[in-house]
Amino acid sequence: MGEVLACLRGWHPGLALAELEALLPEAEIEPAVSARWCRVRHSTHSARTEALALASGLQCFLLNGTTVSSSDIDASTLLLRMEAYLSEHPVDGSVAVRAWKQGEKIPGWSLSRLTKQVGGVLFSSGNEVDLATPDHVFAIVSDGLTASIAFGWMEGDGTASFSNGERRAGQRPFFKPVSLDPMLARLGVNLAAGPRSSGPVVDPMTGTGGFLIEASLSGRSVVGIDIHSEMVQGARDNLAWAHDGDTPGSAKVVRGDATRIGDAVPGDWHGKIAGFVLDPPYGRNSHGTETADALLRACLVSAHVVASPSAGFVLILPMHPPEQHTTSSLSFDQPFELLNGTWENVMRVIKETGWVLRSVHAERVHRSLGRLVVHAQRCAS
Ligand SMILES: C[S@@+](CC[C@H](N)C(=O)[O-])C[C@H]1O[C@@H](n2cnc3c(N)ncnc32)[C@H](O)[C@@H]1O
Repeated sequence: MGEVLACLRGWHPGLALAELEALLPEAEIEPAVSARWCRVRHSTHSARTEALALASGLQCFLLNGTTVSSSDIDASTLLLRMEAYLSEHPVDGSVAVRAWKQGEKIPGWSLSRLTKQVGGVLFSSGNEVDLATPDHVFAIVSDGLTASIAFGWMEGDGTASFSNGERRAGQRPFFKPVSLDPMLARLGVNLAAGPRSSGPVVDPMTGTGGFLIEASLSGRSVVGIDIHSEMVQGARDNLAWAHDGDTPGSAKVVRGDATRIGDAVPGDWHGKIAGFVLDPPYGRNSHGTETADALLRACLVSAHVVASPSAGFVLILPMHPPEQHTTSSLSFDQPFELLNGTWENVMRVIKETGWVLRSVHAERVHRSLGRLVVHAQRCAS
């Protein structure tokens, strides 16, 4: 397969792009037209299938996906382009056409008319049309912001939002206001650890188990650590609940210290841990007199000791919401206003403990709270 077009979900396309890059480390990925589309080269079908199963921010892939600007083309020329695509990329089996829009409608364009016309083209070229359970779906996506249209045979089901399903934080048996929601937790795990085969994941301050649950539901081996026994029991209950009472052996919650990760994880994980997901306490921390920076420093030092050579970590830091809402990756020298400590100190701690910053994204939670999602990777030592 040459090139595919990835369609990202709308919640945070910048984080979704970073997640996709982590899940497809072999691929070349570059943005295309809309913030929610990117071109992916050199990816295998099996790597894309895994990305579709694991990702929080990925909607679907369009095989040899084509993009056009609606101002450069009229509807009949676009239909001719689609016919040419269909004859260059024939498929076996039943087909359907699905169209959706990102953002506003493009004035003067009717997706439902295009859908019917492409359906007609497929039918008259002998394809069996099956709207309920097609073998192949031809997708047409319009992007209101850039007034452009993408199309191609779809891989994945094109679901617009990540399925939090029944496991939203508030529905779990053990809930605290600090509980992370599945969408961000899943993204954090993928960004930190990459493909499933990279190795196990550790959540050194697991709390109610937001990351832990998503890592285990993704089929990863994971250990969640917490210093408080109430949290350990609560995270175990939540984990069992997420697995309908049948917690897999590959997921464990242990009482331990995030500054001594090596003592809490199996001995044969040393040097092999692919990702660390870190959501440190906001106010007073467990070590009483220690500052937030000192706890972070000690945790990153202990993670470095047991990390695989290319391990990643994702750190979630509460902040004042950024004045300008942007979903792209941010430059590291911005004066982020953290609720706890300073960004300069966090950057210094990351650098001095043997990690290198990869990306920083801001997320707005509500009017008075934002989150900084920091992604770093272990330096080759
Ligand atoms: C912000 S909460 C984590 C919330 C979590 N992401 C969730 O989804 O519920 C931070 C957790 O770190 C734990 N913690 C604090 N200091 C720790 C330490 N030194 N070692 C391990 N856990 C620690 C606290 O008990 C608390 O449960």
